[in-house]
Amino acid sequence: MNSVKEGIDFSELIQDDRIHGSLYTDADIYNEELTRIFYNGWVFVGHDSEIPESGDWVRRNIGEQPVLMIRDKTGQVQVLMNRCTHRGNLLFTNKAGNDHHLLCPYHGWVFDADGTLLDTPEAGGYGKQFNKPDFNIPKVNHVDSYRGFVFACAAEEAITLAEHLGDAAQLLDRVADMSPSGEIELSGGWLQHRFKANWKMLPENDTDGYHVASTHQSFVMATSSQAPDYVGEDSLPQVRDWGNGHTEIDFTPGYRKVDKTFEWYGRLSESKVPDYIAAMEQRYGKEEARKKLVDGPPHAIIFPNLFLAEMNIVYYYPVAPDECVQVYTPLYLKGAPELNKRTIRQTEGAVGPAAFLLADDVTIAERTQIGLRAHGSDWLDLSRGVDREEVDKDGHPVSHLSDETSNRAFWNHYKAVMNQ
Ligand code: FES
Ligand SMILES: [Fe+2]
Repeated sequence: MNSVKEGIDFSELIQDDRIHGSLYTDADIYNEELTRIFYNGWVFVGHDSEIPESGDWVRRNIGEQPVLMIRDKTGQVQVLMNRCTHRGNLLFTNKAGNDHHLLCPYHGWVFDADGTLLDTPEAGGYGKQFNKPDFNIPKVNHVDSYRGFVFACAAEEAITLAEHLGDAAQLLDRVADMSPSGEIELSGGWLQHRFKANWKMLPENDTDGYHVASTHQSFVMATSSQAPDYVGEDSLPQVRDWGNGHTEIDFTPGYRKVDKTFEWYGRLSESKVPDYIAAMEQRYGKEEARKKLVDGPPHAIIFPNLFLAEMNIVYYYPVAPDECVQVYTPLYLKGAPELNKRTIRQTEGAVGPAAFLLADDVTIAERTQIGLRAHGSDWLDLSRGVDREEVDKDGHPVSHLSDETSNRAFWNHYKAVMNQ
């Protein structure tokens, strides 16, 4: 990896309690992030359940690079560059498909689902020096999954996915264990929003508890059952630093106090989903099942681009210093059709274009991006809660819902990666 561009001192730009506004606007910093975070670190690509059959593929982006997550004929998940090795054409423009042979529409080269070049039309035109294997589609070096969540890392030498996830793997367990089969199914379709703000505003905002009562006032008022959780010095939820840039808003202390199942779902009555509850009890036992149904799924960021958004799964990718794309799908649980039918409606209400949450956050992110153009106070304050953080029983820093512990955790890890 090249050293950080001369003149950018990330230790200066990212201090313990404040960060510099240029981190959201500077093109050199953005390019350095693409190299270090997206092209040399582990990033979320998709979920196993999206490509159940061999030849199934979905289009994805790693940073600005178009890629395909594809299941080859041996059943292995591969992440291939979505680029023909002849003259660079994008192989697929659709969102998903099933193809055992990847056919480039430009001159008709054909590749196997593992990227091997199989055929070139009118092959006689190529001389003796033409060596087919030189034209196999490049693969991302490391692909691994945890509970079906597929991650890729293009660095030649990389830490393992397990090392990258660290203790935050428990958050993915918590997602999958909401399912009575222990498996999730991301088959509900993805909703995509492109907007004019730096990508880092997403992981920051998604586990920022301070903005909820203000930015999402209409949501808090409409879901009055949860309002006390979001507001006030006595609110019980906490923000948590899981290490490696992974962060969480942990709502479980509030839900446990209320001690009702489905409080996190917006007070779903047990009578509406009897089969789901029975299936959960069968898998986990009555007591453990109830605990899961009181706690609900996590609200957490897996650095750098995956948001476990309770009953939604979200990822995002940058397209420019001041532009990014955020992509959502409902969290479907395999073996829980009763609940899944409700979840798609909840997704529409929570994160659809006319919904409560996403529109609020995106508007604020775009406003912030514009606000950053104004000079005079070039630093952004992140000092909230520095004096009242605690460490939980597992050694992770936690603090009041409204504290910036999660933001500082994100930026500290970012700094470590950018200074490597
Ligand atoms: S660019 Fe793909 S076959 Fe020519
Ligand atoms: Fe928000």
